[in-house]
Amino acid sequence: MERVISGIRPTGNLHLGNYFGAVKSFVKMQDEYDCMFFIADWHSLTTHPKPENIRRSAKTILAEYLACGIDPEKAPIYIQSDVKQVLELYLYFNMNAYLGELERVTSFKEKVRKQPDNVNAGLLTYPTLMAADILMHKADKVPVGKDQEQNMEMARLFARRFNRIYEVEYFKEPQSFHYTAEAVKVPGLDGSGKMGKSEGNCIYLCDDEATIRKKVMRAVTDAGPTEPNQEKPEPIKNLFTFLELVSGKEAYDYYNEQYNTMQIRYGDLKKQLAADINAFCAPIREKIQTYSADDEYLQRVARLGAERASESAEKTLREVRQIIGFR
Ligand code: TYM
Repeated sequence: MERVISGIRPTGNLHLGNYFGAVKSFVKMQDEYDCMFFIADWHSLTTHPKPENIRRSAKTILAEYLACGIDPEKAPIYIQSDVKQVLELYLYFNMNAYLGELERVTSFKEKVRKQPDNVNAGLLTYPTLMAADILMHKADKVPVGKDQEQNMEMARLFARRFNRIYEVEYFKEPQSFHYTAEAVKVPGLDGSGKMGKSEGNCIYLCDDEATIRKKVMRAVTDAGPTEPNQEKPEPIKNLFTFLELVSGKEAYDYYNEQYNTMQIRYGDLKKQLAADINAFCAPIREKIQTYSADDEYLQRVARLGAERASESAEKTLREVRQIIGFR
């Protein structure tokens, strides 16, 4: 059975970008594949979070994953720092990773630009840790959003390079997976490219109705189309992407027709969108509250996940050590 792995950095709550980019695919896959989900708490250290935030965030994300419909019996969920083997694999991959290629990674270059006083080595080697996460379990498929394509490319590169250096056919090249024909990029409603925690433009799965409405009604628009069937500028295209994701084809077609015939009222579109996002989030929100209140259950899920992940990780590490020449 093919192996699937996916992960998230616990630096806040799950937002619609996380959901439509990765979690939705994962939930659909758990019946057909050998799935594992993990919370990348070591990755989150690049921004130096406070200890209490690390503890709280991992727990929050765990509850949110469960609320989205991940069944830990089918798909174990583990916390990255509970499975130490990944650190050893990270070290081996770092020995085969070159400064030039790591410096060329777009997300690294962006971080250099945005946080010039904290360009740490963990940030530089982020793709090798991510490759270790994936290759440690010999994953075939990795549900991720469009923003992770380059990290996936690096994971394939490190897999190939390891095989070449040690003259083995050991690691498979993992493929990105999306439930749609193309990788999903959920936009921000502020007219910017992507919904993201560091962009500060997220709608969270735990947001209440009033918050969702406020965020959607504030979405950037323009004065409206100036001729029939014109191409939509970025912020308007973003609203339509949301309609497609959350409201469905019928609503999308209706507002598209309104736009093309220059009758569109953005206020109506936003009201519909806010109502649909709320209808989508409401049952998840309720479950988040239930799971968050059950510490004992969350701990049990994380323990079970760590046991299953450690087994798979230890098997890989035993083989890798032997290939490299240890013991
Ligand atoms: P992270 O924590 O930024 O995001 C988790 C997942 O959500 C997706 N995502 C989006 N998809 C579409 N549109 C958006 N606006 C959007 N925002 C976030 C991401 O693509 C991702 O799939 N490096 C990873 C965490 C990670 C990982 C891994 C993932 C570490 N090791 C191994 C998979 C496998 C990250 O920072 O994701």
